[in-house]
Amino acid sequence: MKKYLVIGNPIDHSLSPKLQNWWLKENKIDATYDKIKLEVHEIKNFIQEIKEQKIAGCNVTVPFKKTVIPFLDRLSPEAEQTQSVNTITYDNGDLVGHNTDIAGFDSAIKKLNFSLKGKKVMILGAGGVVPSLIFALQKMNVQEITISNRTKEKAENLRVLFNNIKILEWGKLTDFHMVINATSLGLNNEKINLNFSSLGNDRLFYDVIYNPQETQFLKMGKQLGYKTENGKTMFVYQAMEAFKLWHRIEPKVNTDTFKLLDND
Ligand code: ATR
Repeated sequence: MKKYLVIGNPIDHSLSPKLQNWWLKENKIDATYDKIKLEVHEIKNFIQEIKEQKIAGCNVTVPFKKTVIPFLDRLSPEAEQTQSVNTITYDNGDLVGHNTDIAGFDSAIKKLNFSLKGKKVMILGAGGVVPSLIFALQKMNVQEITISNRTKEKAENLRVLFNNIKILEWGKLTDFHMVINATSLGLNNEKINLNFSSLGNDRLFYDVIYNPQETQFLKMGKQLGYKTENGKTMFVYQAMEAFKLWHRIEPKVNTDTFKLLDND
Protein backbone atom coordinates (compact mmCIF):
# COMPACT_ATOMS: atom_id res chain seq x y z
CA MET A 1 0.00 0.00 0.00
CA LYS A 2 1.34 3.41 -0.91
CA LYS A 3 2.30 5.59 2.02
CA TYR A 4 2.17 9.39 2.10
CA LEU A 5 3.15 11.65 5.00
CA VAL A 6 3.31 15.23 6.13
CA ILE A 7 6.52 16.21 7.89
CA GLY A 8 7.00 19.18 10.21
CA ASN A 9 7.84 20.21 13.74
CA PRO A 10 5.48 20.64 15.54
CA ILE A 11 3.06 18.45 13.58
CA ASP A 12 0.30 17.52 16.05
CA HIS A 13 -1.98 20.32 14.85
CA SER A 14 -1.87 19.25 11.19
CA LEU A 15 -5.23 18.48 9.61
CA SER A 16 -3.63 17.20 6.40
CA PRO A 17 -4.03 13.49 7.31
CA LYS A 18 -7.72 13.96 7.96
CA LEU A 19 -8.31 15.64 4.63
CA GLN A 20 -6.01 13.48 2.50
CA ASN A 21 -7.35 10.22 3.98
CA TRP A 22 -10.92 11.40 3.35
CA TRP A 23 -10.10 12.02 -0.30
CA LEU A 24 -8.17 8.73 -0.63
CA LYS A 25 -11.23 6.86 0.63
CA GLU A 26 -13.64 8.84 -1.51
CA ASN A 27 -11.58 8.07 -4.60
CA LYS A 28 -11.00 4.43 -3.62
CA ILE A 29 -7.23 4.82 -3.70
CA ASP A 30 -5.34 2.16 -1.79
CA ALA A 31 -2.96 4.40 0.16
CA THR A 32 -2.45 5.90 3.61
CA TYR A 33 -1.51 9.40 4.71
CA ASP A 34 0.03 10.05 8.13
CA LYS A 35 1.94 12.76 9.98
CA ILE A 36 5.42 12.57 11.43
CA LYS A 37 7.42 14.97 13.55
CA LEU A 38 11.03 15.14 12.42
CA GLU A 39 14.17 16.83 13.67
CA VAL A 40 16.25 18.67 11.11
CA HIS A 41 19.00 16.01 11.06
CA GLU A 42 16.42 13.37 10.12
CA ILE A 43 15.28 15.11 6.93
CA LYS A 44 17.97 13.68 4.66
CA ASN A 45 17.21 10.04 5.53
CA PHE A 46 13.51 10.62 5.32
CA ILE A 47 13.80 12.00 1.80
CA GLN A 48 16.02 9.08 0.83
CA GLU A 49 13.07 6.83 1.66
CA ILE A 50 11.02 8.62 -0.99
CA LYS A 51 13.87 8.15 -3.45
CA GLU A 52 13.75 4.42 -2.65
CA GLN A 53 9.94 4.57 -2.90
CA LYS A 54 9.42 3.18 0.60
CA ILE A 55 7.38 6.37 0.94
CA ALA A 56 5.37 7.47 -2.10
CA GLY A 57 5.45 11.23 -1.48
CA CYS A 58 5.05 13.84 1.21
CA ASN A 59 3.88 17.26 2.27
CA VAL A 60 6.29 19.54 4.05
CA THR A 61 5.29 22.09 6.63
CA VAL A 62 6.94 24.56 9.02
CA PRO A 63 9.90 24.75 9.54
CA PHE A 64 11.22 22.50 6.73
CA LYS A 65 9.91 24.07 3.52
CA LYS A 66 13.37 25.33 2.64
CA THR A 67 15.39 22.67 4.49
CA VAL A 68 14.27 19.91 2.09
CA ILE A 69 15.48 21.68 -1.07
CA PRO A 70 19.13 20.47 -1.17
CA PHE A 71 17.95 16.85 -1.10
CA LEU A 72 15.69 17.13 -4.15
CA ASP A 73 16.56 16.62 -7.83
CA ARG A 74 14.34 19.31 -9.32
CA LEU A 75 12.03 22.12 -8.31
CA SER A 76 8.93 23.45 -10.03
CA PRO A 77 9.33 27.07 -11.16
CA GLU A 78 7.12 28.23 -8.24
CA ALA A 79 9.15 26.27 -5.68
CA GLU A 80 12.35 27.59 -7.26
CA GLN A 81 11.31 31.21 -7.07
CA THR A 82 9.94 31.07 -3.56
CA GLN A 83 12.61 28.65 -2.27
CA SER A 84 9.72 26.92 -0.56
CA VAL A 85 8.57 23.32 -1.02
CA ASN A 86 5.39 21.96 0.53
CA THR A 87 4.89 18.89 -1.68
CA ILE A 88 7.37 16.26 -2.87
CA THR A 89 6.61 13.92 -5.74
CA TYR A 90 8.55 11.04 -7.29
CA ASP A 91 8.87 11.28 -11.04
CA ASN A 92 10.75 8.54 -12.92
CA GLY A 93 13.52 8.30 -10.35
CA ASP A 94 13.60 12.03 -9.62
CA LEU A 95 12.45 13.76 -6.47
CA VAL A 96 10.56 16.90 -7.41
CA GLY A 97 9.74 19.78 -5.05
CA HIS A 98 6.50 21.70 -5.64
CA ASN A 99 4.86 24.66 -3.99
CA THR A 100 1.08 24.28 -3.86
CA ASP A 101 0.64 27.00 -1.21
CA ILE A 102 0.67 29.52 -4.06
CA ALA A 103 -2.25 27.90 -5.89
CA GLY A 104 -4.02 27.41 -2.55
CA PHE A 105 -3.82 31.08 -1.69
CA ASP A 106 -4.75 32.09 -5.24
CA SER A 107 -7.89 29.90 -5.16
CA ALA A 108 -8.86 31.24 -1.73
CA ILE A 109 -8.67 34.84 -2.95
CA LYS A 110 -10.58 34.03 -6.15
CA LYS A 111 -13.44 32.56 -4.09
CA LEU A 112 -13.65 35.82 -2.13
CA ASN A 113 -14.43 38.00 -5.13
CA PHE A 114 -12.13 40.68 -3.79
CA SER A 115 -10.11 42.04 -6.69
CA LEU A 116 -6.55 42.82 -5.72
CA LYS A 117 -5.42 44.16 -9.07
CA GLY A 118 -3.78 47.56 -8.52
CA LYS A 119 -4.33 47.30 -4.75
CA LYS A 120 -1.99 47.68 -1.78
CA VAL A 121 -1.29 44.71 0.47
CA MET A 122 0.36 44.67 3.87
CA ILE A 123 1.80 41.40 5.19
CA LEU A 124 2.56 40.93 8.87
CA GLY A 125 5.34 38.36 9.31
CA ALA A 126 8.19 37.03 7.20
CA GLY A 127 8.10 33.29 7.95
CA GLY A 128 7.87 30.19 5.78
CA VAL A 129 4.60 30.93 3.98
CA VAL A 130 5.31 34.56 3.06
CA PRO A 131 7.28 33.98 -0.18
CA SER A 132 4.29 32.01 -1.49
CA LEU A 133 1.90 34.82 -0.62
CA ILE A 134 4.13 37.39 -2.34
CA PHE A 135 4.47 35.21 -5.44
CA ALA A 136 0.68 34.78 -5.72
CA LEU A 137 -0.01 38.47 -5.04
CA GLN A 138 2.46 39.57 -7.70
CA LYS A 139 0.72 37.29 -10.21
CA MET A 140 -2.52 39.05 -9.30
CA ASN A 141 -0.87 42.35 -10.28
CA VAL A 142 -1.20 44.08 -6.94
CA GLN A 143 0.26 47.56 -6.89
CA GLU A 144 2.36 47.34 -3.74
CA ILE A 145 3.37 44.77 -1.13
CA THR A 146 4.64 45.93 2.26
CA ILE A 147 6.16 43.49 4.73
CA SER A 148 6.40 44.20 8.43
CA ASN A 149 8.15 41.70 10.65
CA ARG A 150 9.33 41.81 14.26
CA THR A 151 12.81 40.77 13.10
CA LYS A 152 13.40 43.29 10.32
CA GLU A 153 16.34 41.37 8.91
CA LYS A 154 14.06 38.48 7.96
CA ALA A 155 11.82 40.85 6.02
CA GLU A 156 14.88 42.29 4.29
CA ASN A 157 16.05 38.81 3.35
CA LEU A 158 12.86 38.44 1.32
CA ARG A 159 14.21 41.13 -0.98
CA VAL A 160 16.69 38.57 -2.31
CA LEU A 161 13.72 36.71 -3.80
CA PHE A 162 11.44 39.69 -4.48
CA ASN A 163 13.28 42.95 -5.04
CA ASN A 164 10.29 45.29 -5.25
CA ILE A 165 8.68 44.69 -1.85
CA LYS A 166 8.54 47.47 0.74
CA ILE A 167 9.64 46.97 4.32
CA LEU A 168 8.05 48.64 7.33
CA GLU A 169 9.15 48.66 10.98
CA TRP A 170 7.20 46.24 13.16
CA GLY A 171 4.48 48.15 15.00
CA LYS A 172 3.85 50.69 12.22
CA LEU A 173 1.02 50.76 9.72
CA THR A 174 0.77 51.83 6.10
CA ASP A 175 -2.25 52.35 3.87
CA PHE A 176 -3.57 49.05 2.46
CA HIS A 177 -6.62 47.37 0.91
CA MET A 178 -5.72 43.98 2.31
CA VAL A 179 -3.78 43.07 5.44
CA ILE A 180 -2.54 39.53 5.96
CA ASN A 181 -1.54 38.03 9.27
CA ALA A 182 1.24 35.58 8.45
CA THR A 183 2.72 35.59 11.94
CA SER A 184 2.03 32.89 14.48
CA LEU A 185 0.25 35.47 16.67
CA GLY A 186 -3.28 34.22 17.13
CA LEU A 187 -2.56 30.50 17.30
CA ASN A 188 -2.88 30.85 21.07
CA ASN A 189 -5.31 33.73 21.16
CA GLU A 190 -2.61 36.45 21.16
CA LYS A 191 -3.51 39.95 20.00
CA ILE A 192 -1.52 41.92 17.46
CA ASN A 193 -0.70 45.30 18.86
CA LEU A 194 -1.64 47.52 15.91
CA ASN A 195 -4.33 50.16 15.71
CA PHE A 196 -6.39 49.59 12.56
CA SER A 197 -9.21 51.95 13.49
CA SER A 198 -8.61 54.73 10.98
CA LEU A 199 -8.76 52.83 7.69
CA GLY A 200 -11.07 53.65 4.80
CA ASN A 201 -13.87 51.29 3.85
CA ASP A 202 -13.76 48.07 1.82
CA ARG A 203 -10.74 46.45 3.43
CA LEU A 204 -9.93 42.76 3.68
CA PHE A 205 -8.42 41.17 6.79
CA TYR A 206 -6.91 37.78 5.96
CA ASP A 207 -5.35 35.37 8.42
CA VAL A 208 -3.28 32.42 7.28
CA ILE A 209 -4.24 30.71 10.56
CA TYR A 210 -7.37 28.51 10.35
CA ASN A 211 -7.30 26.96 13.79
CA PRO A 212 -8.68 28.81 15.75
CA GLN A 213 -11.17 29.80 13.07
CA GLU A 214 -11.30 33.39 14.23
CA THR A 215 -8.11 34.86 15.62
CA GLN A 216 -8.04 38.08 17.64
CA PHE A 217 -6.76 39.74 14.47
CA LEU A 218 -9.85 38.67 12.50
CA LYS A 219 -12.15 39.56 15.40
CA MET A 220 -10.70 43.05 15.34
CA GLY A 221 -11.18 43.35 11.55
CA LYS A 222 -14.77 42.18 11.89
CA GLN A 223 -15.48 44.60 14.73
CA LEU A 224 -14.26 47.44 12.54
CA GLY A 225 -16.72 46.32 9.86
CA TYR A 226 -14.29 44.78 7.37
CA LYS A 227 -14.41 41.62 5.33
CA THR A 228 -12.45 38.81 7.00
CA GLU A 229 -11.21 35.40 5.91
CA ASN A 230 -9.16 32.71 7.64
CA GLY A 231 -6.67 30.31 6.06
CA LYS A 232 -8.95 27.31 5.78
CA THR A 233 -9.77 27.67 2.08
CA MET A 234 -6.07 28.12 1.29
CA PHE A 235 -5.32 25.00 3.32
CA VAL A 236 -7.93 22.92 1.48
CA TYR A 237 -6.81 24.05 -1.98
CA GLN A 238 -3.09 23.56 -1.34
CA ALA A 239 -4.02 20.02 -0.24
CA MET A 240 -6.12 19.54 -3.37
CA GLU A 241 -3.19 20.54 -5.59
CA ALA A 242 -0.90 18.10 -3.77
CA PHE A 243 -3.49 15.31 -4.17
CA LYS A 244 -3.68 16.06 -7.90
CA LEU A 245 0.10 15.86 -8.23
CA TRP A 246 0.31 12.47 -6.53
CA HIS A 247 -2.84 10.75 -7.78
CA ARG A 248 -3.72 12.58 -11.01
CA ILE A 249 -7.29 12.98 -9.74
CA GLU A 250 -8.99 16.21 -8.71
CA PRO A 251 -10.68 15.51 -5.37
CA LYS A 252 -14.03 17.05 -4.52
CA VAL A 253 -14.15 20.24 -2.49
CA ASN A 254 -17.57 21.04 -1.06
CA THR A 255 -19.28 21.93 2.20
CA ASP A 256 -18.55 18.44 3.58
CA THR A 257 -14.84 19.02 3.04
CA PHE A 258 -14.97 22.14 5.19
CA LYS A 259 -17.24 20.49 7.76
CA LEU A 260 -14.71 17.69 8.13
CA LEU A 261 -12.14 20.22 9.25
CA ASP A 262 -14.58 22.07 11.52
CA ASN A 263 -14.79 19.20 13.95
CA ASP A 264 -11.41 20.03 15.42
P1 ATR B 1 9.54 30.60 10.78
O1 ATR B 1 9.88 32.02 11.20
O2 ATR B 1 10.39 29.55 11.44
O3 ATR B 1 9.38 30.40 9.30
P2 ATR B 1 6.73 30.79 10.98
O4 ATR B 1 5.75 30.18 11.93
O5 ATR B 1 6.56 30.58 9.54
O6 ATR B 1 8.14 30.30 11.45
O7 ATR B 1 6.81 32.37 11.24
C1 ATR B 1 6.51 32.93 12.42
C2 ATR B 1 6.29 34.41 12.17
O8 ATR B 1 5.59 34.95 13.29
C3 ATR B 1 7.57 35.21 12.03
O9 ATR B 1 7.38 36.24 11.12
C4 ATR B 1 7.77 35.72 13.46
O10 ATR B 1 8.54 36.89 13.57
P3 ATR B 1 10.14 36.80 13.77
O11 ATR B 1 10.70 36.62 12.40
O12 ATR B 1 10.51 38.11 14.37
O13 ATR B 1 10.39 35.63 14.68
C5 ATR B 1 6.34 36.04 13.84
N1 ATR B 1 6.16 36.08 15.28
C6 ATR B 1 6.15 35.04 16.15
N2 ATR B 1 5.94 35.48 17.42
C7 ATR B 1 5.81 36.83 17.36
C8 ATR B 1 5.57 37.87 18.32
N3 ATR B 1 5.43 37.59 19.62
N4 ATR B 1 5.51 39.14 17.87
C9 ATR B 1 5.65 39.44 16.56
N5 ATR B 1 5.87 38.50 15.61
C10 ATR B 1 5.95 37.22 15.98
